[in-house]
Amino acid sequence: MRVLLTGAAGFIGSAVATVLAEAGHEVVPVDVMLPEAHGGTAPPAGVHALDVREAGDWVDLLRGVDVVCHQAAVVGAGVTVADIPAYAGHNDLGTATLLAAMHEGGVDRLVLASSMVVYGEGRYRCPDHGNQPARPRDVGALEAGRFEVACPVCGAPLAWALVDEDARLDPRSSYAASKVAQEHYAAAWVRQAPASAVALRYHNVYGPGMPRDTPYSGVAAIFRSSLERGEPPRVFEDGGQVRDFVQVSDVAAANLAALDAVVDGPAGRFDAYNVCSGSPVTILDVARELAAASGSGLEPVVTGEFRPGDVRHVVASPARAAAELGFTARVAPAEGLTRFATAPLRG
Ligand code: UD1
Repeated sequence: MRVLLTGAAGFIGSAVATVLAEAGHEVVPVDVMLPEAHGGTAPPAGVHALDVREAGDWVDLLRGVDVVCHQAAVVGAGVTVADIPAYAGHNDLGTATLLAAMHEGGVDRLVLASSMVVYGEGRYRCPDHGNQPARPRDVGALEAGRFEVACPVCGAPLAWALVDEDARLDPRSSYAASKVAQEHYAAAWVRQAPASAVALRYHNVYGPGMPRDTPYSGVAAIFRSSLERGEPPRVFEDGGQVRDFVQVSDVAAANLAALDAVVDGPAGRFDAYNVCSGSPVTILDVARELAAASGSGLEPVVTGEFRPGDVRHVVASPARAAAELGFTARVAPAEGLTRFATAPLRG
């Protein structure tokens, strides 16, 4: 198939380009080369330097394309209010403009990079009161070192459970809001065009080629970069926060499976899938594994600090992606994080 790939020069997009080429597909790679992500470098050979918000320029590129794989986005959690226009512009206006250009060009299949941030907090259960919604944590409780989410009925700490794709969407950052909006625009396009789209909700992605840390980076890049500088990873809260770390090669494989499914499937469908390893891990264990495998002799420091916007646990169910896309991650976090400790970073 012929796949137009946005964000093709990025961390995840370049891994997707590699698996697509290996599978014998024709890739039309596009990337705006944002200076924040690429430091002002020129696009790699063959990559078209175009802004997704200027989709009028794309008509020629979309000709003969079977499916668009849309990875281009401004990422991270959003550090200040001043970031909101960048998320809305690149992620939402960009997706909306791309969808209109695809419709005009007769391209009616889309795979969209989404994120687990659409869920906000993960899923929780009280031993006495069953499933409970997770309200934002109280700053006083965090300051007192009570990090677990409290049951709204009895105040007892809630236990985490697996989040499936039917969970309520509850975006808690400007980035998360932009990812929810991207999904909603894609779902509207599917009904109106008619067309078909798959949204892949990535969990915590890591792997070779990950950018070095910035204020917008996820924790794997932050820990990896501090070890490289000879500094111990600083673990916030008590380190018991649980996430699902998925290696970038598995994320690329999930995209390949989703592209096959959406091209072969019927029109009129919008489906979302968790892309995760299925092996939950605490942030303290991530820090320990990276530190041990780095050969630095450094030990993580548990600081008790907290970021008010952080969620406590987000742990995904991989079941739907396995059943419907045939996607199961191959790299267990323990193995992948050990390799990541000494893998090259970008930038
Ligand atoms: C991260 C991304 C989010 C992305 C998602 C899935 C950021 C900021 N967040 O969400 O955009 O969609 O993965 O890929 O990019 N922590 C430390 N020490 C640090 C930094 C963080 O202990 O130096 C802790 C945090 O308190 C948090 C956990 O690590 O509990 C994960 O943090 P982070 O990776 O930033 O955010 P996620 O919520 O997992």
